[in-house]
Amino acid sequence: MTKARRILFITVLCLIAGAFHISCDGGGDSSGQNTQTTTINGTVTNIIASAQKEERSFKFTKILDIITFIKEAKAQGGVLVTAIIDGITVDSDVTDPEGDFTLTLELDSATNVLILFDVNGEDVSIELVVEEGSILNINISIDLNAPPGDEVEIVEMEEVRGPIRCENGTVNIIKNENETLVIDGGGEDCIKAEGNCTVFIDPEDVLLTNCESCVKAEGTSMVTIVSPNGDIVCEASEDGYKAEGDAEIVIDAVGVIDISAGDNGLKAEGNSIISLGADTCIINSLESSIDVSGNATIDTSGCGEIVEAPSPSPSPSPNPSPSPSPSPSPSPSPSPSPSPSPSPPPPLGVALYISNCQSCHGVDGMGGPFSNVVGKSAGAISTAIMEIPAMSSLSFLSAAEINAIAVFLAP
Ligand code: HEC
Repeated sequence: MTKARRILFITVLCLIAGAFHISCDGGGDSSGQNTQTTTINGTVTNIIASAQKEERSFKFTKILDIITFIKEAKAQGGVLVTAIIDGITVDSDVTDPEGDFTLTLELDSATNVLILFDVNGEDVSIELVVEEGSILNINISIDLNAPPGDEVEIVEMEEVRGPIRCENGTVNIIKNENETLVIDGGGEDCIKAEGNCTVFIDPEDVLLTNCESCVKAEGTSMVTIVSPNGDIVCEASEDGYKAEGDAEIVIDAVGVIDISAGDNGLKAEGNSIISLGADTCIINSLESSIDVSGNATIDTSGCGEIVEAPSPSPSPSPNPSPSPSPSPSPSPSPSPSPSPSPSPPPPLGVALYISNCQSCHGVDGMGGPFSNVVGKSAGAISTAIMEIPAMSSLSFLSAAEINAIAVFLAP
């Protein structure tokens, strides 16, 4: 698909077969009509004003109009934004001077929403398929000179949604480029599949955050997370990815698979299978990186490199016992690696940023609940970690890691 129509398909197909029950939401009981609030937080980051009008204008007053128009357009505020479903206006807002707007929708399933922008009388629109119960953060650029239908472009998009529960059937989340999917477990399992459910997720970057386990698969369920362009980051208080019974978990990213777990990074029991595939797999766990029992299999052969980062345990040991240095093992002479692998070092800054900063400073440092940090130096980050109480927990980051983040944040 070319740039022609930036229509995004965020489809969640909940294929309900017969009496099977699937709940695609936070696990609430679906009793009859089950509408959930979806919030669209948008920012109009840029408006390129119409040039066509200039050609059509004959009168001086018209030109004056245009001048004011362009001025106002550059302010990005004062744009009337309307959400329309099936021809009916469901919500509207006017952008503030920063270009921000918020639309709230009550949806009972994934729904096609037309978002109309009235920029000083010129109407342009974009269509989205929006899921029930999610929070969508979008950055929008409007170019009134673009061909009809292309005026509105989604520059960046992040979808935040609650945990996914699936007992039977299929949950399919398929997305376009430039989107980050955030699943916030709120302390529970981020994705939990039981029975013979299949969950398939395919966005650009995935952040599973605030999870008990990032994915827990039981029964004969199968959970597949594929990120054809990006990273898959998992932050779990217990096991990162956990499979039991005959379940299977497949995690496949082009970039980095980053797992931070309070217990084991990967845990498989029974006949279950977990397989990982990525350039770099980072497993940062308080217990084992990999814990396999029974006939289970954990296959990390798809990882180009495995980094088992020692987790930042709150080192309470005050007396550093003079460690009797274990006999200096003669480092195994570097086996003559056949191919001098030309792959550049993985962009760890991205993964570090996503797992440690993004929740507060937004995608790519563009600003989330807190300030925009694009272009901030390593020094500024270190100072912020020392001085800002909300960031004090990040003091475990090494200078090299902070550097990597600063490199990532460079404009
Ligand atoms: C729990 C929330 C939180 C997290 C996580 C967080 N920050 Fe912050 N950060 C803040 C707050 C709050 C401030 C101060 C208010 C502001 O600047 O919006 C701040 C300020 C900063 C500043 C100073 C901004 C300025 O204008 O000078 C930098 C730089 C920064 N953070 C970088 C980072 C980086 C890099 C990370 C990840 C390693 C990170 N922060 C993680 C909350 C957070």
